[in-house]
Amino acid sequence: MVEVYICQLPEKKSQAELEMLSERVPDERQKRIRQFFHLEDAYRAMIGDLLLNHVLQEKTGTGLKDTVIEKNVYGKPFLYDYPAFQYNISHSGKYVVCALHDQPVGIDVEKVQSFDLRIAKHLFTGFEYRDIIHSRNKNLACFEIWTLKESYLKAVGKGLAIPLHSFRVKNMDNNQIEIVDMEKNEKVDFICKQYTIAADYKLAVCAKRAKKNDFAEYPAEICFDELRRSIGDEYCG
Ligand code: COA
Ligand code: MG
Repeated sequence: MVEVYICQLPEKKSQAELEMLSERVPDERQKRIRQFFHLEDAYRAMIGDLLLNHVLQEKTGTGLKDTVIEKNVYGKPFLYDYPAFQYNISHSGKYVVCALHDQPVGIDVEKVQSFDLRIAKHLFTGFEYRDIIHSRNKNLACFEIWTLKESYLKAVGKGLAIPLHSFRVKNMDNNQIEIVDMEKNEKVDFICKQYTIAADYKLAVCAKRAKKNDFAEYPAEICFDELRRSIGDEYCG
């Protein structure tokens, strides 16, 4: 099963709340949260950790503070003690999302802005670019391809060490979104799913050894107050 969780940033944010809540995440993450200049960026990173903490607690009974977050050489975080608990986090604008699977998984959310088609032509494969220019809303189509491709990069965990032209995303007749290796012209063992969350956001998840029906139909929404409660915050309403 590929699970997806989503949380929205609260309207009201404060440095005091940030400091109080980030005490509940591992020390190295606290340090990172403190380094952001903008409060919004710090909240996004912190909510990612609180969301992970919430799900980990639910699945294993252990909180994030009691485990170690390791990183692969490309920076993909993972929990060494829980190999069957594979996860990935993404944040953009007012959303923080987390995907969960027992195999490598990647997730990407992006707030839709204007996308320069010349950049799209350069970044994406000819197949992907052709799909974009034939779509009704080219801007949305660019972000659709972007998030799908990035969810694959993040699932593999190598980031841009995988060239963007070395694979394409392909929407099959049965609406299954597959990843095709451009050199071998063969599909790889990852499939993707898109979720609609808001008109101006795109969200994609990519999972290894998954079938279309393994993906949750909708993301599970966890509100910020629920996250605060799950860490036993006595100040929350
Ligand atoms: N693989 C998978 N996940 C990673 C990762 C990696 N190599 N490195 C970090 N992450 C996770 C972390 O949990 C991180 O959260 P944190 O910053 O709070 O620690 C989270 O991914 C960030 O994801 P997202 O919000 O989607 O960030 P991003 O879009 O700014 O960056 C990365 C994505 C992290 C993979 C970045 O290293 C990268 O490669 N960016 C390139 C993006 C790009 O060009 N995409 C092309 C799409 S066509
Ligand atoms: Mg991203």
